[in-house]
Amino acid sequence: MNSSMHSKPPRYSKLLPCLSIQASWQRLVDLFTDAGIDCARQEASIVLQHVTRQTPTDFFANLQRTLLPAENSQVEAIVSRRLLREPLQYILNSAHFYGREFYVDSRVLIPRPETELLIELVREILPVLPQRAAGPTFADVGTGSGSVAVTLACEIAGARILAIDSSKAALQVARINAARHSVGDRVHLLQDDLLTAVGARYSVIVANLPYVPTKDIQGLSPEVSCFEPHHALDGGADGLDAITRLCSQAAQVLDTNGWLLLEVGEGQADGVLQLLSQQHMWEPLRSVPDLRGVSRVVAGRMVGSHR
Ligand SMILES: C[S@@+](CC[C@H](N)C(=O)[O-])C[C@H]1O[C@@H](n2cnc3c(N)ncnc32)[C@H](O)[C@@H]1O
Repeated sequence: MNSSMHSKPPRYSKLLPCLSIQASWQRLVDLFTDAGIDCARQEASIVLQHVTRQTPTDFFANLQRTLLPAENSQVEAIVSRRLLREPLQYILNSAHFYGREFYVDSRVLIPRPETELLIELVREILPVLPQRAAGPTFADVGTGSGSVAVTLACEIAGARILAIDSSKAALQVARINAARHSVGDRVHLLQDDLLTAVGARYSVIVANLPYVPTKDIQGLSPEVSCFEPHHALDGGADGLDAITRLCSQAAQVLDTNGWLLLEVGEGQADGVLQLLSQQHMWEPLRSVPDLRGVSRVVAGRMVGSHR
């Protein structure tokens, strides 16, 4: 045996030794904290629960178990991406919305908790929607991952949803999620610029369109500005390009007494309320705050054509 073979270190020595789950958890918390990642402790536990395929309860019951070599290398692969500030949801292809898990990747915006308010408001107006023999119909404009459209289909028996996005790539993700939650037969996907090609009428239009002013995007966290698709964020100079255009199209696509529910950015609700009040066909028209007290959704019922 030649001596150089003895001096060559075995491949696995390049990896960190396998730590206990608890020690690995602490190491990840330190790495994430040093990298400026919010919620370092929570994210570290999500990584380890994912890799060890444990429920939170099992995870806390097995903190002394040593990671297997394959688990160890999977942790390292995830951590190296996360330290570059790629969102954990993209790395794990998983995000939660209204109690369900959705597939996500860099083709779509990661669903946000504040958007759940749109679902809550739909549930609130459900009893007063115009009656349709086959059940209510919804147009979800800017569907992205399909989180809103799929949730509506899951929550409202018989509801049919047209899920629109201008991005073909986003619609591919929405299709995955509609199939995952077994509502592909009631969520119809359409590539369109807002409602331009829509001929039918709907009981409700819901929309979470891009609303970040272009100049503000660079100032967002690296997770958002460097990784989330800019077509899902960029709302033009004042953030209201797509929303303004949707407001001018909405009445043509709504049933009389149908509702328009628009998610807006912080500080934008008054401008959108003003825009809609000039059309003299929305009553009631109001903004609804999220849990932080920020006016987050503008909601209006279309009572008829211009009065
Ligand atoms: C803020 S994301 C919202 C995604 C999803 N509804 C959610 O709440 O997680 C906005 C979406 O609107 C789409 N979008 C942007 N401009 C559009 C347009 N003119 N017509 C249709 N969709 C548009 C983007 O591609 C993106 O998927």
